This record gives sequence, C-alpha cells and structure tokens, in this order.
Amino acid sequence: MKEIWDNRMAFILASIGSAIGLGNIWRFPYIAYRYGGGAFLIPYLIALFTAGIPLLILEFTLGHKTENAAPLAFASYRKRWKWLGWFAVAVAFGIVCYYTVIMSWSFIYFFHSFSLSWGNIPEYFFNNMVLERSGSPLQLGGINILVLVFLVVTWMAIYYSIYNGVKTVGKVVYVTVILPWLILLIFIIRGITLPGAMTGLSYYLTPNFAALKDPVVWVNAYAQIFFTLSVGLGIMIAYSSYLPRKADLINNAFIIGFANCFTSFLAGIAVFSSLGFLAHQTGQDVANVVASGPGLAFVVYPTIINMLPFGNRVFGALFFMMLLTLGIDSAFSLVEAASKATIEQWKISRRTLNLFIAGTGILIGLIFTTRAGIYWLDIIDHYLCCYGLVIVGFLEAIFVGYFINTESFRSYMNEQSEIKAGRWWIFFVKIVVPVVLLGTLGYGAYQEFLTPYGGYPTSVLIVGFGFLLILTLVAIMLSKKERRL
Ligand code: PHE
Repeated sequence: MKEIWDNRMAFILASIGSAIGLGNIWRFPYIAYRYGGGAFLIPYLIALFTAGIPLLILEFTLGHKTENAAPLAFASYRKRWKWLGWFAVAVAFGIVCYYTVIMSWSFIYFFHSFSLSWGNIPEYFFNNMVLERSGSPLQLGGINILVLVFLVVTWMAIYYSIYNGVKTVGKVVYVTVILPWLILLIFIIRGITLPGAMTGLSYYLTPNFAALKDPVVWVNAYAQIFFTLSVGLGIMIAYSSYLPRKADLINNAFIIGFANCFTSFLAGIAVFSSLGFLAHQTGQDVANVVASGPGLAFVVYPTIINMLPFGNRVFGALFFMMLLTLGIDSAFSLVEAASKATIEQWKISRRTLNLFIAGTGILIGLIFTTRAGIYWLDIIDHYLCCYGLVIVGFLEAIFVGYFINTESFRSYMNEQSEIKAGRWWIFFVKIVVPVVLLGTLGYGAYQEFLTPYGGYPTSVLIVGFGFLLILTLVAIMLSKKERRL
C-alpha cells in the first residue's frame, strides 16, 4: 500500500522543517547585511518568485506525478536521466555527513550552557576546548571522541525520526518546526529590548539601493534562495511522492517558500538586535562584531549570552536547543531522500537500510570529527553547496523545460492546484532558472580561479573537488545498476 502523510499539515511542516535550518539563522542575516541591507530584500524576493518557488513547484510535481524519489522520478520520463536523481541524492547524503557534525557541536554546547563553561573567551573555548582544532587541514590529529559520541547521538535521533518513514516524520515535525519558532520569538523579544538593539537593526535593515547594481548581490540572492529552500537534493521530490492523489501542489509551494523566507527575515531581527547589544556593551562598531556560520553560533552568541542581564543559562540552553531542532528536520529530510530512493530500487527493509545509512554516515563523518574536521567541513560544504546543488537545479530545469512535455507537466500541476501556474512558470523554468544558475556557477568558478577558496592549499581543494567527482561517479554507477535489473 502506498505510504502517505497523515495530513496536509504534516507534509507542509516537514517541508518547512527541511527548508528552515541553520542557514536561516547564521547565513541569511549576514548575507542580507553584507549585500545591501534592507535593499537586499528586493533581489531576494525576486529570486524567491522567479527561481525558488518555480523549482519547488517543479520538484513537488515531479514527486507527486511519479510517486517516486528522485532517481526513479527522472527515470520514469527518461531512463538516461536517472543518474541525475542519484546525483541529487548522493549530494544530499554528502551534506548530511557534515551537517550532523555541526549538530554534534550544538549538543556539546547545549550541555555547556548550563554552566556557561565557555567562560570569558568563547573563541578560545570553541577552538581549543571543543574542537581541539589543529593548525591545518592536513594535520588530522586524531578523532575528537566527544564530537564522535554526539555524532552517534545525532544519528540515533535521525534514525528514530524516520523510523516509520513519513508516518513518524509527520509527528516529529510538529515539535521540530514549532519549537524553534517559539524560541526564535523569545530571542526576538529579548533582542529588541536590549540596549543597542536599534543600532544593530539599522545595520541589518538600512537599505543600500546602490548595491542592486552589483551582479554579485544578485548571485548571492539566488544562491541563498536555492540553498534555503532545500531544492536540488531530491528532498522535495521524495516528500511530495508521499502526498495523496489529491493535493494542492502550487499552493503548498507558496506556503513553504513564504514561511521559510519570513523566518529568515525574523531571524535577522533576533541576530542583529543582539549584535547591536554586543557592540553597545563592548563599545565597538556593529561592523566589527558581525559574524556568520559557526563563528556566529559558537563564538559570538556565547559572548552575547555572557553579557545578558539575567537568565544567561536559560538563554544559552534555549539557543542551542533552537539550533538542534532547526537542524534535525533538515538532516533527516536529507536522509529520507536517500532512503526512499534506495528502497525503491532494492526493496530492502527501511530499518535495515537506515541503520546502514547511519553507519555509513558516521564512518564518513569521522573525517569531520578529527582535529582538522572544521576545515574539511568548510571545504566539502563549499563544493557540495556551491556546485552540487546548483548543478542539480540547473539540470532539473533543463530536463523539465526541454526534455519532457513541459506543457503537459504544467497542466498536471494545474489540475492539482487552486492557484494555477500560468505561462510565467514555463518562462522561469526554461529561461530564468537555467540562466541564473549557470551565471551562479560561472561566477563561482571564476572566483575559484582568482583566489583559491578560503585560502586553502590547492592540494586540499583538489580533495574537496574530488569528493564531488566521486559522488558523480557513484551516481552514474547506481543508475547503470538498475538498467540491467
Ligand atoms: N535549507 C537549510 C538551511 O537553510 C539547509 C539545507 C540545505 C538543508 C540543503 C538540507 C539540505 O539551513
């Protein structure tokens, strides 16, 4: 019998849960600040409407129509394109291998918040006490056992969240989506009532319209939309394949896109009001304290938490609880995409398979639990997200736009939906998405050529790039396999 979501809400929450992740907190606010402040919302929203939502609709339709995860969804139209499905899934799996390590750090910090053990120099604590970071990517320095222990804990949490497939996912997401929203609300209220908050917010929101003339701003807006909606990984294809026959695809895509972007916007308020407070307390300019990525979560936030007038431990624990709940539903959506694709192909039991996936995830994750883990995490993230994801999105649009009957694809989605996709949808999928994604790829490659990413030695970057190539080969091999069956 076909597995389906318990109800529409479960599907919507699960997709929102996948979309809303660490990136909404630690990437969007920084990108917005850096690329035009309030004015960044213009390219960002344009990117949402012209690429994000059209691709979400595309993935939902693909999954719903074929009732398959990515590999078979593509193959059911064109056998030769099956590898693209496996490639998406392979990239998804590659991402989850390090995403779970970030969650492991968050676990460690969650426990440290009860004693505020990061002390007065959170940066030292993060690098030397938690990561025990080595001097370079090539000095692995052995495995950090505590990080490994919580990596295993994270995988156990993932395993149980998808224990019965979407039946369990549909229940877990009520907690893992709603709880971080509530915590975010607490942080907004806390943030804007702190001294200096308004200065912080003015850094975040003061529009710099001149920025809109810079193509780099646009590239970043599109790249961020793409990453934040979790498209290009087969997740949304797998999730929508579990929808009942009657389901409103287009409306769902709009709801999910809006919910995600609105959350990012709110996260920026929480983050920048607190940064304003930090600047105020330390007598610095906000520009000197802004941060993104792990630096924001594990260094700057602990510093802010130290300075709060009351309830430091509680706010600390809440913050890391927010990261954990934000991360887990993104993490298990990545696994579910891979898991469904594999079950469809080999008819093995879900639980055995998921144990195997978790085991492999931990094994590959070992590299990120070494003392050089954070370097490798940064490098692999760069290649998978800047290239892997974007390549899939580009090819997906080309596939639906040029290799299948786009018109009948569109009428299928329209039969399903209250809001209709007009010809605009075809225009976005055939022209806008491919051009923009190609531009993003080209710009990325050009930058790469000018300056090696992150100042790492070339040999190290080649390994990162090699990882992407290995995933491509694995995908091609997997897609060949079935044709012989
Ligand atoms: N969309 C998530 C975020 O913004 C990240 C993510 C990307 C999760 C890709 C899964 C897959 O953080």
